[in-house]
Parts: sequence; structure tokens; C-alpha cells
Amino acid sequence: MSTATLTEPTHPATHSMPKDSSLGKPTPSDRSRAEGPTPCSLPPHPDSAIQTLRGIDRIVLTGFMGSGKTSTGRLLAEHLGWRFLDLDHEIEMRQHRSVPQIFSEDGEAHFRHLESAALASLLGQRQVVIALGGGAPEELGNRLLLEQTPHTVVIYLSASFEILVARCAAQAADPSATARPNLADLNLAERRFHHRHPHYQRIATHCIETEKRTPADTAEAILATLRSAAPATGH
Ligand code: S3P
Repeated sequence: MSTATLTEPTHPATHSMPKDSSLGKPTPSDRSRAEGPTPCSLPPHPDSAIQTLRGIDRIVLTGFMGSGKTSTGRLLAEHLGWRFLDLDHEIEMRQHRSVPQIFSEDGEAHFRHLESAALASLLGQRQVVIALGGGAPEELGNRLLLEQTPHTVVIYLSASFEILVARCAAQAADPSATARPNLADLNLAERRFHHRHPHYQRIATHCIETEKRTPADTAEAILATLRSAAPATGH
């Protein structure tokens, strides 16, 4: 795994943790509102993108809640002329209910089952940028699937727990944001963060440090990393 390193800004931290909007999160416009302004310094350049991404059919973004998977993924997809797919959004569309509703009505274990099924189907698509939910790599089956899907790079968007919580809190200030059930208890969330970190690292083809980066900067760093990497045949 390669690592692009930067350091960090400070954000105010609070503890209410919604994520997106309405039937859940997921319209792109809702998500950009929730994550604050994300000026796009990445105009679409499909020609150079084709050159850049030789051998890559899917870019998967992983990382804890608040790592910027959705906002970065959307920018990256726009730039490449690819489709952006958000795993939570896919689950919500299939279920006709929000992630918090699924958690409260059927429990997290059921959510994980739905998540694995949705992931398998998204990984069947080409020329897509996929944002995973923060907990997806906890499941062994998901990790194996990611590792075994050819022509797929997995990018770990990393940041400290404090920064991630602060970003989620800022998103939560948006009334249209959908709650993140797994941030309700911050002690438990921190334990999950430490438990997941090695999984994120293990499945990642590349790690991008995001603390001082905007989503646009992160998207650019991903492209720069992929540009300098060997063509992908798997990972
Ligand atoms: C979760 C992360 C969420 C969503 C669900 C559970 C987690 O996705 O899948 O609320 O356990 O970390 P994001 O990482 O996109 O917020």
C-alpha cells in the first residue's frame, strides 16, 4: 500500500451525528450540502483519465465515517466521466428506507447482510467510483470480495478519529442530514475506529491522508497516486 501524507486542520467537534437527507442520505446535492462547500478544481478530462487509469475499472473508496468518501468519490467520478455509486444509497434505494430506519427496525446485523449483497452487485459494474459505508470492510466476505475483484483499486481515506468526528458533527448541523447510528456512542465509535483501521489498511491499494485536504484535493491526490502506480490487474 502506498501512502500520500499530509497533516491536519482543526474543526470544532460536537456529538450529534446525522449524515444526509430524506429517504436517507443520498442525493448528491444533499450530500454536498451536508459536507459543506467542495469547490471542484477537477474539470472533466476523460482523455487524460483514460491514460491515467489504464487497467482500472473500479475505484473503491473506503475509510471511517467522515473520511469524505462520498464527496471525494463524486468529484472523482465527475472528473473521469464515470458513474458515482454510494453503497449506503444503493441499500436505501433497494429497501425504500433510510439506513437509520434499517438499523432501528432490523438491527445492524441485517444492515450488514444488505450491505454485502449491495456491494457484490456494485462491484459487477465498470467505470464506477464506489463509496463504501464505513463499516463494510469489517465483514470478511466483503474484504475478500474487494480483494478478489479484478481491475479494482481500493483507496483508504484516512484521518484521525478526532478529525473524523468533527467533520461528522459539522455535517450533522445540516437539518437535511441523515443520522449515523454508529456515532451515537462516541466511546464505542472510537473502539470501532481502532478495530477497523487495520482492515482499511489491509484492503487498500493506496492510502490517502485527508486531514488537510478538501475533497477536491483528495480527488487530485488519488489521481496523482494512480497516475504514478503500475497498471492494475487486480491489486
Ligand atoms: C456506518 C457508516 C455509514 C453507514 C452506516 C454505518 C458505520 O456510512 O453505512 O450508518 O458503521 O461506520 P458512512 O461511512 O458513509 O457514513
